[in-house]
Amino acid sequence: MLKLENVSKKYHNKSVLENIDLEIQPGEIVSLLGQSGSGKTTLLNIILGLTKMDSGKIYYENEDLTNVKMKDRGFNIVFQDYALFPHLNAYENIVYGLKNKKSMDSKNELHEYIDFLELGPHLDKKISQLSGGQKQRVALTRTLVMKPRILLLDEPLSALDGVIKESIKERIKSIAKQFQLTTIIVTHDPEEALTLSDKILIINQGHVSQFGTPHEIIHEPNNEFVKDFILKQLHIKRQNIFHLFGEQYA
Ligand SMILES: Nc1ncnc2c1ncn2[C@@H]1O[C@H](COP(=O)(O)OP(=O)(O)OP(=O)(O)O)[C@@H](O)[C@H]1O
Ligand SMILES: [Mg+2]
Repeated sequence: MLKLENVSKKYHNKSVLENIDLEIQPGEIVSLLGQSGSGKTTLLNIILGLTKMDSGKIYYENEDLTNVKMKDRGFNIVFQDYALFPHLNAYENIVYGLKNKKSMDSKNELHEYIDFLELGPHLDKKISQLSGGQKQRVALTRTLVMKPRILLLDEPLSALDGVIKESIKERIKSIAKQFQLTTIIVTHDPEEALTLSDKILIINQGHVSQFGTPHEIIHEPNNEFVKDFILKQLHIKRQNIFHLFGEQYA
């Protein structure tokens, strides 16, 4: 279990995150949902170990990680812009991190991930020759082969649209379930969060507005902000949300 206790962060004396508490169970997909500037990326980077919190604690499986460095936490991230190396081809990008690591047991296992993300035909291509969705899959594979204890994704779908977006969404879901991989996804899109996650943390200006399942958030919104953000931003009526999520939400 990943546990955050009372996490706070200020930039230039301005509070960006205030007293964030969060518990994530193994294998859960959790979305951090909020408007631009609400503190989502900051929170993701604090979990990763890239950004230092001012106060609070972070635990993973009862181990106190608060002062543990990023590389020793064993978490891994896919950044929003993928951050692939343009001078390397798709395959070289995927295996780049394995050079100094014995985490991947065999070539078979590596190819299992490559097949799972259907990248076989694209391995020799330069990054500039890949589509957005293919780049996203290379970035995901590069992160997955490192066998992270937790997978962190910053707006993984925002640069994609239509069919590609749906297909990557389904793939993220099946990776999390198949590999029992705890996954934390930053998004500003309520529909994405509702259809992708087991639980959603709604952040409003650095505060937790609600933490719950999609069902709870739709049926028992904690406050006006949640109602507004979820319902008004979706531009659809309650009725249509039920329609969108099927019988179980009716
Ligand atoms: N390194 C930094 N130095 C100073 N201020 C920062 C820094 N990083 C973030 N901030 C500020 O902290 C607040 C939260 O930023 P953050 O990037 O976490 O928001 P976000 O929810 O990810 O937004 P977006 O959806 O636009 O990516 C913003 O007001 C931002 O300007
Ligand atoms: Mg961000």
